[in-house]
Formats: sequence, structure tokens, C-alpha cells
Amino acid sequence: MVKKLGRNDPCWCGSSKKYKKCHAEFDDKLESYRLQGHIVPPREIIKNPAQIAGIRASGKINTAILDYITDHIKIGISTEEIDQLVYQKTLELGGHPAPLNYRGYPKSICTSVNDQICHGIPSPEVILKEGDIVNIDVSTIYQGYFSDSSRMFCLGEVEPTTAKLVQVVREAVELSLSEVKPWNFLGDVSHVIYQHAKKHGYSVVREFGGHGIGLEFHETPWVSFVAPAGTEMLMVPGMIFTIEPMINLGTHELYLDPNGWTAYTADGKPSAQWEVMVLVTEDGHEVLAH
Ligand code: MF3
Ligand code: CO
Repeated sequence: MVKKLGRNDPCWCGSSKKYKKCHAEFDDKLESYRLQGHIVPPREIIKNPAQIAGIRASGKINTAILDYITDHIKIGISTEEIDQLVYQKTLELGGHPAPLNYRGYPKSICTSVNDQICHGIPSPEVILKEGDIVNIDVSTIYQGYFSDSSRMFCLGEVEPTTAKLVQVVREAVELSLSEVKPWNFLGDVSHVIYQHAKKHGYSVVREFGGHGIGLEFHETPWVSFVAPAGTEMLMVPGMIFTIEPMINLGTHELYLDPNGWTAYTADGKPSAQWEVMVLVTEDGHEVLAH
């Protein structure tokens, strides 16, 4: 049985302030949300300043790796070569690729081309050609802290309808960021994304979502991008999670490759994804990786 925290005891957050001067009021507020039937964050996912600093540093490396790929991706490169570039760059920057050997995943990144929704596995046989779109999903462990973000790339001249999809998924993520602030709900974020996709006649993937991150690769909460406003977990300062919607030109339905990882659109039409890692701050948010 855990002893109940006294008001003069040191706060659970590790600040070494007295509980009553630190998170006591916060805990009362959270309890009142919980009593109203809302999902409130468990303490374990609320990061302290030292953890935030570590995760921020990891996110900087992740962003730098994607900047590096932005400079090197071109028609004729294989997804295997991109994987190698990321592997080498990550080690050079003092990190380790989080996907490598994660639950048996064989590579350092995910490279999802055209109708691949997510978790495309890099291969020397997949050579990027004119008109392709590809999501490069990079995740880094740096000094024990995890980061995760992804971008879309258009190779050469892309069909206008497909290029528009890529633009809209990026816009959706950017628009949704204004909803990331304390005492909003994750559903407020997904609502913006869903509405933006719907406005353009696109569908939003249901089976994959964002996730808490920082001390582990995938932490609670799971982040839906089809949830209504005012639902899902309450956001509070110190929470870190990814926003990574997958938006399809046609149906939201998918099928899984026999490799057990790669998801494809059921109708073969293109899918696009953008991913940022974000921290909820006292007065809004900070993007930690993009
Ligand atoms: N960045 C991807 C995600 O968060 C990584 C998936 S796990 C992997 O969904 F093993 F496929 F990399
Ligand atoms: Co992710």
C-alpha cells in the first residue's frame, strides 16, 4: 500500500518542492476532470524538466537527420540507401535508431512509398522514381531518450491530385498544433485533422495513431486522428506525444503485408503522413521534433 502524499511531503514530480506548493492544486484539478468522466493522464507520462531536456536533445538530432535526408533524397536512390544514410548519421550524432530490432523490425527507418500507408521496409529493390511520394519516418534514442518524426517527399513531377494530398496532410498537422495546450483534449487535435482531411474529400486511417513518447518509444496515450473534439485524454503540461495522421486519397481501409509490418491502402490509391513530436507546455506547446 502506497502512503498518501502529505501536503508537506516532497512533490511526486521530483521538483523537491513541497507537494502543496507544487502539484497539489494540479492533482485536484485532474481529479475533478476524472470525476466528470474524462480520461486524465497518469503521472508516469508527465515529464519533469530534466527528462524534457533529454527528450528535446533527442528530438533535435531526429530533426537534423531528417534535414540531412531532405538534402540527399533524389530520384534513383533506393530506400535501402536512405536507411544506410540515416543509420550512419544517427551514430555520427551520438544516437541509435529506435526502430532497428524494435519488436523484430529489421531496419533503421520506415520508408512508405505511394500506396504504402506506413511501416514500409527499406529495400535495395525499392528505387525512388519520378512521380513517387514517400514518407521517411525517423526515430532516435539519444542518451536513453526517444524521439520520432516523419516527412513526405515528392520525387520530381508528382500528379497534382497526389501532390495536393501531401500538402493537405502537412497543413492538417500544422493546423492541429494550435489545439495542443493544457486542458484541451487529444480529440480537439484529431478533430482539426479529421475536418481538414474531410474538407478535401480524403479519408483518415483508423488503425494507426500517434503515441506518447520520451522514456520509451511508444507510451500511453494512443492518439486517434478520428476522435471527436472534447474526447480522449486531457492534455497537461509535461506530456509529450506524436501527431502523425495517415491520410488517404481514397478509402481509409487497409491491408497488411505478409511481412507483418507494412500497411497498404485497400484500393491502391496514395496515402500520405506527416509526423511531429510535441510537448505540452504551461501556455501551449513546443514542437520537439519535425
Ligand atoms: N515511427 C514509427 C511509429 O511510431 C515506428 C514504428 S515501429 C517500427 O509508428 F519498428 F516499425 F519502426
Ligand atoms: Co510515431
